[in-house]
Amino acid sequence: MGVVSSKTSLANRHSTPTAAGFHRSWYPVCLASDLAAGAPLGRDFLGTRVVAYRDPASKAVVQSAWCPHLGADLSVGQIVEGRLRCPYHHWSFDPSGACAHIPTGDKIPTAARIFTYPSEEAWGLVWAFNGERPDFDVPRIPGADPSTIVYEAHERGAVPYDTWVAVSNGVDFQHLHTLHGLPAASMPEQLEVAGGGIEFRVESPYHLQHGRITGTNSFAQHLRLNGKDLFMLFSGTPIEEGSSRAHFVVGVPNGEDDRLPEVRAMVDRLTAEDAPVLRTIRFRRGLLTASDRHLARYFKYVEEFPCFLPPER
Ligand code: FES
Ligand SMILES: [Fe+2]
Repeated sequence: MGVVSSKTSLANRHSTPTAAGFHRSWYPVCLASDLAAGAPLGRDFLGTRVVAYRDPASKAVVQSAWCPHLGADLSVGQIVEGRLRCPYHHWSFDPSGACAHIPTGDKIPTAARIFTYPSEEAWGLVWAFNGERPDFDVPRIPGADPSTIVYEAHERGAVPYDTWVAVSNGVDFQHLHTLHGLPAASMPEQLEVAGGGIEFRVESPYHLQHGRITGTNSFAQHLRLNGKDLFMLFSGTPIEEGSSRAHFVVGVPNGEDDRLPEVRAMVDRLTAEDAPVLRTIRFRRGLLTASDRHLARYFKYVEEFPCFLPPER
């Protein structure tokens, strides 16, 4: 059923095993606000291309963008009567991916379908799961649900690294001190690895950090600093091996909207400090020492993460 383990060792390598496909995870496709009714949107995605649009009930649909007839890009087609119509010879595909109409009246080949990714809308983003069915839920932000915080989503554009390398930041507690200049970092005793994610919690009289990695491309955290709560989520979408598109969400408790710019400025600062390293790193699982034990656990988790390659793409 298309499930292949990545299993390849991360030693001395800096790329994802695309021969087996990309990890079975939830990936942001676009901002929810970018998806207008009646207008398909194309995105380069996981080594291929997808088209996203809203069905008649306004639910986001994400499908392979290549027409099975001659390979036209369906994202430059039209939405007609709730179906995606190819710009070339007007074959139409329904939200399940089946070809529903060919204008000539020719018999519709049974193989005339496009792969349909499970999709969800959450945190102001449209997400697609790389698999036939999701293995776990869309990323959560610890300590928050969409009704208890105000949040805004942003897309940062293309970056020259793999998503799982960027996400390793979330459990690299040393770099919070050395690169970001935060007070000597507190490390959680252990990481909890379950349900398609990794979670940890660190608390002191002065702060709280509750972090969660979902899949290999999203890191979210609830921070309490100086008695104030803030929430952030970073998520990357591979474009192809070695490059990805970055998205982030910032949030504060309901009623504290005026603090959003301050949280956004903090995210911008952390991102700017990480950028020179992430943009130039030739990642390898090198010489890990005792303080790297959580990173080592994360790398093992990535090595074992299952991959998927859609059948029609
Ligand atoms: S290429 Fe799409 S209908 Fe011909
Ligand atoms: Fe960082």
